[in-house]
Amino acid sequence: MLVSNLAENLIGSEILKIAAQVNAMKAGGAQVSNLTVGDFDPSIFPIPEALQEEIAIAYAAKHTNYPPADGVMALRQSVSAFLKEHLGLSYSADKEIMIAGGSRPLIYSTYLAIVDPGDKIIFPTPSWNNNHYAYLTQANAVMLETKPEHNYMPSAADIAPHVKGAVLLALCSPLNPTGTMFSKQDLEEICDLVIAENKSRKEGEKPLYIMFDQMYWMLTFGDHKHYDPVSLRPELKDYVIYIDGSSKAFAATGVRVGWGFGPESVISKMKPIVGHMGAWAPKAEQVATSVFLQQKEEVATYMSNFKEKVQKSLSALHTGFQHLKNEGFDVDSIEPMGAIYLTVKVNMKGKTTPEGKVLSTASDVNFYLIKEAGMAFVPFSAFGTTEDEFWFRASIGAASLADIEAGIPRLKAALQKLS
Ligand SMILES: Cc1ncc(COP(=O)(O)O)c(C=O)c1O
Repeated sequence: MLVSNLAENLIGSEILKIAAQVNAMKAGGAQVSNLTVGDFDPSIFPIPEALQEEIAIAYAAKHTNYPPADGVMALRQSVSAFLKEHLGLSYSADKEIMIAGGSRPLIYSTYLAIVDPGDKIIFPTPSWNNNHYAYLTQANAVMLETKPEHNYMPSAADIAPHVKGAVLLALCSPLNPTGTMFSKQDLEEICDLVIAENKSRKEGEKPLYIMFDQMYWMLTFGDHKHYDPVSLRPELKDYVIYIDGSSKAFAATGVRVGWGFGPESVISKMKPIVGHMGAWAPKAEQVATSVFLQQKEEVATYMSNFKEKVQKSLSALHTGFQHLKNEGFDVDSIEPMGAIYLTVKVNMKGKTTPEGKVLSTASDVNFYLIKEAGMAFVPFSAFGTTEDEFWFRASIGAASLADIEAGIPRLKAALQKLS
């Protein structure tokens, strides 16, 4: 082998593979509604104008040298105030908050700071990238398969049999890939389970930590309210590491400013890990984000327009699927609650295409739909479930509302061609 075992066996992003096929078709002139990547098309969902202006101002002011490895103080202070104002959470700028180049380095450094090779960790599937971070840290991963009946969210009863000896419970709400969220009661019960487990551990024993990924907490719809562990159970403060940032909240995936916060005991270890990776956020973007977060009116106006637009696209897709379901197709969708995703079912297992190919896996169905309907999703198997799940993630960030609406009749026609 020419490279390490770890590198040799690392699996790249399944989503990007599907996206590559979509892009090739588009380049060939095909009309494809690309509902694959969890990204935004900036011509449809631009970043806030005020943030864009502040970035230009920060570059003009020559904020082009190294930032502090854990983030510029002004941004950590802005984040601290933002968390206090919007979530009622108290985290100190100097010791309990850190900044990184988007939230991925924060997730990876949380894993690295907590998990030793062979340590037991727990996460639900489908979920985003935990399988890869578990692999990278050589964790002993307990993957809990969740169910559509429970909005694909895990419950305390699902987790309870596995908590003994576990060191990390990775949770996310609103959840990528499903766009569903924890109910207050479900999250409270999980918090109580973790509190009880930690009380039972001996002194010096590694506790059970929660990594709580709330990247999409600002994107919630209707009556759906975001809950987080420490707000519900303040005594959990020493055990929860939050993953958060601007990538999704402000459609700023390319700006690369993420923030994490949690107990000093863990955050202080994550800081040098991110520092050694050099995975800090660009300095000008940090300075700009720190100013933007303080511009309450601009933030509020942007969020209300952005959310309305996201919700319209998700609702159009959900309605389209519900119509097809009512017409007798074996399809379904779960009401969108948050994030930019809709959970859809297209159960065409065992059906035969006009070319005579039998569709046996979710990937088969997906590639058939890409080719025949010009509509591309991501099978839940890309998020850790088995290939036998005929549920998919539909992401609306890179498609226009018109695109989505035009895709539904094509989807219907493609389903009608199956026998
Ligand atoms: C739940 C969740 N957490 C974290 C991330 C990573 O965010 P970033 O682009 O800031 O690294 C994503 C991106 O898709 C996500 O969906």
